[in-house]
Amino acid sequence: MTKGKILLGITGGIAAYKAAELTSALTQKGVEVTVIMTESATHFITPLTLRTLSGKDVFTELFPEKIPPDPLHISLRERGDILVVAPATANFIGKMANGIADDLLSTIALSFTPNYKATGQAQPVIIAPAMNEVMYKNKIVRENLKKLKKYGVKIIPPEKGYLACGVEGEGRLASPDKIIKIIFETLKKISKR
Ligand SMILES: Cc1cc2nc3c(=O)[nH]c(=O)nc-3n(C[C@H](O)[C@H](O)[C@H](O)COP(=O)(O)O)c2cc1C
Repeated sequence: MTKGKILLGITGGIAAYKAAELTSALTQKGVEVTVIMTESATHFITPLTLRTLSGKDVFTELFPEKIPPDPLHISLRERGDILVVAPATANFIGKMANGIADDLLSTIALSFTPNYKATGQAQPVIIAPAMNEVMYKNKIVRENLKKLKKYGVKIIPPEKGYLACGVEGEGRLASPDKIIKIIFETLKKISKR
């Protein structure tokens, strides 16, 4: 029996490889995972890996060669009770905080209304930022995160630890276990509404 369905957005950071572990663990736990990758993310991990681990088609393009009957950003919306973006780049965070929708993932992100108190709809969005410490502490990124939080987006803060740029610092993607725990808590919450 399905434990819920999520859209998993993967953006182009070095932690994108950890999204494979996340996809595999969630799928094994009975969650239906539909993956949407940014073009940048495909430089870090292949759609084939995610296609295989999720058992579902992976989506990367807003304007695919084979035109679907319904626009993807509308039809995909139905495949997830929640949108999880892990890892979320500074770029994605900036775009979402400023209403920019210039690729499939950012367009879908704007079709969710996480502030369900305002809309009466439960459409949670969870993002797990990951980037180097200098980027994470950049005031522009902080402001964008603050703005998203204000609009009802759940932020899973990055952890301190070894970063791919070779230094210790804050910016490491939260552990897959932590992200999974929050996804299950959120799925449980919305199933009660
Ligand atoms: C090797 C490499 C690693 C990167 N790692 C990160 C990262 O961890 N976090 C981040 O925010 N951006 C990172 N970037 C920059 C993003 O890839 C870049 O901002 C890109 O435009 C993000 O696109 P997207 O948000 O559409 O996926 C990295 C770039 C390179 C070349």
